[in-house]
Amino acid sequence: MLADLDVGDAILDVVGPLGRPTHIEKFGHVVCIGGGVGIAPVYPIVCAMKAAGNRVTGIVSARSKDLLILEDEMRGQCDELKIATDDGSYGHKGFPTEILQQMISADDKIDLVVAVGPVPLMKAVCKVTKPADLPTVVSLNPIMVDGTGMCGGCRVSVGGETKFVCVDGPEFDGHAVDFDLLTKRLAAYKDMERQAMDDHACKLEADISRVGRER
Ligand code: FES
Repeated sequence: MLADLDVGDAILDVVGPLGRPTHIEKFGHVVCIGGGVGIAPVYPIVCAMKAAGNRVTGIVSARSKDLLILEDEMRGQCDELKIATDDGSYGHKGFPTEILQQMISADDKIDLVVAVGPVPLMKAVCKVTKPADLPTVVSLNPIMVDGTGMCGGCRVSVGGETKFVCVDGPEFDGHAVDFDLLTKRLAAYKDMERQAMDDHACKLEADISRVGRER
């Protein structure tokens, strides 16, 4: 619906910011990992961590070079920026967790890891940092409905306790998150999402051919 608006159109209400702010302090060496569109929310965290006096290493990843966003902005803030692409078209060929693992194995002192991106990426980051006992913050992205803690749609389990991401999060101790439950809940509406996507594609094609005919 937002995409259908024209310049000058209005929406009735905007709610937010919701949830709790990122905890920022001088930790020492902070590694901030952004995967795909997760680079966008990790960027302000990088800026704030840097402004608090931390040494910041950024690791960003995308499926391919043309899908990588905010590289210049991240480079401008990070003391060092490392890049990974799935297809090897830019930077390290493979996963950002492999770069993180190399840093840990090389005894690069790390005080905090922050990871934002797809659930499999955040889960994989935690799998790498757990044996090294590295504090790891993840930013969760469950399905949200009301965003005010009343519907329960964004329910996750952290350390065995139920939390609502919209009011208690979005950031949590990654080592305490039940990623399997989160993955399962994220898939709850997959069939309907696929159907909506198909419906939208049909309308899109009809719109394109109508515009073509009008020209
Ligand atoms: Fe409804 Fe969080 S979105 S409780």
